[in-house]
Amino acid sequence: MTLILGIETSCDETAAAVVADGQAIRSNVVESQVEIHQRYGGVFPEVASRQHVLSILPVIGQAMADAEADWDDLDAIAVTHGPGLAGSLLVGVNAAKGLAWGRGLPLVGVNHIEAHIYGNWLVEGSSPEFPLVCLVVSGGHSELIWMTGHGQYRRLGGTLDDAAGEAFDKVGRLLGLPYPGGPSIQRAARGGSPEAFKLPRAWLPGSYDFSFSGLKTAVLQLVQKYQPEADGPPLKSRAAGSQPPLMRVLPAANLAASFQAAVIDVLVTKTAQAAQDLNAKAVLLAGGVAANELLRAEMVRNSPVPVHCPPLELCTDNAAIVATAGFFRFQAGERSGWDLDIVPGLRLAAEQDIQPVQDSFPTPPL
Ligand code: KG4
Ligand code: ZN
Repeated sequence: MTLILGIETSCDETAAAVVADGQAIRSNVVESQVEIHQRYGGVFPEVASRQHVLSILPVIGQAMADAEADWDDLDAIAVTHGPGLAGSLLVGVNAAKGLAWGRGLPLVGVNHIEAHIYGNWLVEGSSPEFPLVCLVVSGGHSELIWMTGHGQYRRLGGTLDDAAGEAFDKVGRLLGLPYPGGPSIQRAARGGSPEAFKLPRAWLPGSYDFSFSGLKTAVLQLVQKYQPEADGPPLKSRAAGSQPPLMRVLPAANLAASFQAAVIDVLVTKTAQAAQDLNAKAVLLAGGVAANELLRAEMVRNSPVPVHCPPLELCTDNAAIVATAGFFRFQAGERSGWDLDIVPGLRLAAEQDIQPVQDSFPTPPL
């Protein structure tokens, strides 16, 4: 049995977990900073790293206690060293190095995107078949990856501007919904119609890339229509007793549902197309946006091959996925040196080198 302590601090979650054989979660502690960052409407990097400093040792101690594990029981420590926020990554990497050095344990640096992908190996009895297409969609990343074996990746495409989760967060803010926008939009969308607004889809024919900035701007322009007329007479010049211009109520549920449908439409169509073009044996979803109920349902409905998704609680940032990704690298004989450093822009695979077999993406309706 191989027991690995995973450590994750790439963004705004301080997390530690103990996982046996890359499959059995003995403990999984996540201290979220969401409430701290909520007042800024997004992650405040300097605040995040300071909070990691305060939380990292108690969180690791809790993970060891929950797992009823002794330091001598561990075989290795796996830690996220990129991509992510520099100040946040530094806290996890230095804690992992200090503990590994002090306890004489091997250290394995893990790519955060790879960790998200390996959430799919934490599902009991699931071992996705290679080769497969993996859609990684989170707050910081939106990538379509071709995976031919453990640790073997080629990048098919990715976002040209905002990550899918980032678009959810920004549109959530436009609609006045609480941060993070993804779960808030999903909740609001349940009360709205996806057909209420015809929002643009950037199909980018001939590539597996995504773009969400046009969609975000379209929502912004609709939201602005519901704000009081900027060129109306100034309030103070109105006759005494007259009413200020009525503010029309923002149809947040319909906008949320229409926006969500547009994002998911493009993500699902491109992923299914890649699976078909490349004769994949499976499709994997990964990252925070993979928790989205519409994405999960539509992917299953449209994929030509079996679809795997991590359990909801393993989609967003946690350290069990880091321990599992670290396990597969550890098994392959990989060890990091004491010079392991943070790499905020760490990539999973080389630049895009596979093009769609055919330009068969739908033509935009708008
Ligand atoms: O993977 P993650 O926890 O952190 C990063 O690595 O970025 O992903 C967080 C992102 C946020 O942008 C959040 O809005 C989004 O995942 N998210 C969702 C849902 N749950 C979280 N987006 C859409 N629908 C959801 N249910
Ligand atoms: Zn993440």
